[in-house]
Amino acid sequence: MDQSQHFVAMYLLMLSLGLIIEEGLCQHYYLLRPIPSDSLPLVELKEDPDPVFDPKERDLNETELKSVLGDFDSRLMSITPPQDKYTGNDELDDLDIQQKPSGVMPNEIKAMDFDVQFGKKHRPSKKLKRRLQQWLWSFSFCPVIYTWNDLGNRFWPRYVRVGNCQSKRSCSVPEGMFCKPANSTHFTILRWRCIQKKGGLKCTWIPVQYPMITECKCVCSN
Ligand SMILES: *[C@@H]1O[C@H](CO)[C@@H](O)[C@H](O)[C@H]1NC(C)=O
Ligand SMILES: *[C@@H]1O[C@H](CO)[C@@H](O)[C@H](O)[C@H]1NC(C)=O
Repeated sequence: MDQSQHFVAMYLLMLSLGLIIEEGLCQHYYLLRPIPSDSLPLVELKEDPDPVFDPKERDLNETELKSVLGDFDSRLMSITPPQDKYTGNDELDDLDIQQKPSGVMPNEIKAMDFDVQFGKKHRPSKKLKRRLQQWLWSFSFCPVIYTWNDLGNRFWPRYVRVGNCQSKRSCSVPEGMFCKPANSTHFTILRWRCIQKKGGLKCTWIPVQYPMITECKCVCSN
């Protein structure tokens, strides 16, 4: 057991003792965190599977579609299947390869004090306190995990990169809080839409707003 694992074990012990005493921890944290939004993302379209409603080769002229779309962001969109080594990788949530938090440490972690109880009670050194805060920050940090989605041939471009929040483990100690979407943005893609008219089937590309999660937060799961 190296030193940092030792600190973590000790800290977990302190917290589990703390939990027995202090109930309703999640309510406490709730005050410190933004209210979660469960309305992200979404889009489940009911489509007629009949290939007559699919775009044909002539409807897929890249030059033309790019000019209809206007802004083609190749970080978010792809016409061909993208090579993404992280797609479907269950190990993303593994602590060992957890992404590092960046920016300024949240105030509620910076303000956190630790009582270390080992025989005699004493306050941890500045260095130990800093390490515990750093560890807690990494643990409760909720990165946005980006993966490519195949939207099918009625969207152009059909591959889009979307953000998700990791959901495999709790982001709090003790357990109870989870990473949830906290902010989102939209980008425009094209959708193939057919309407039955007097003269027959009329199909065209229409612009649609596609939502993307841009931020995840550690919040209570209710
Ligand atoms: C795509 O459209 C452009 C402009 O309308 C045209 O010049 C080009 O030949 C088309 N390409 C194909 C492969 O049809
Ligand atoms: C969401 O993100 C946008 C820009 O990415 C930012 O301007 C806005 O303040 C954020 N909203 C919240 C609630 O964090």
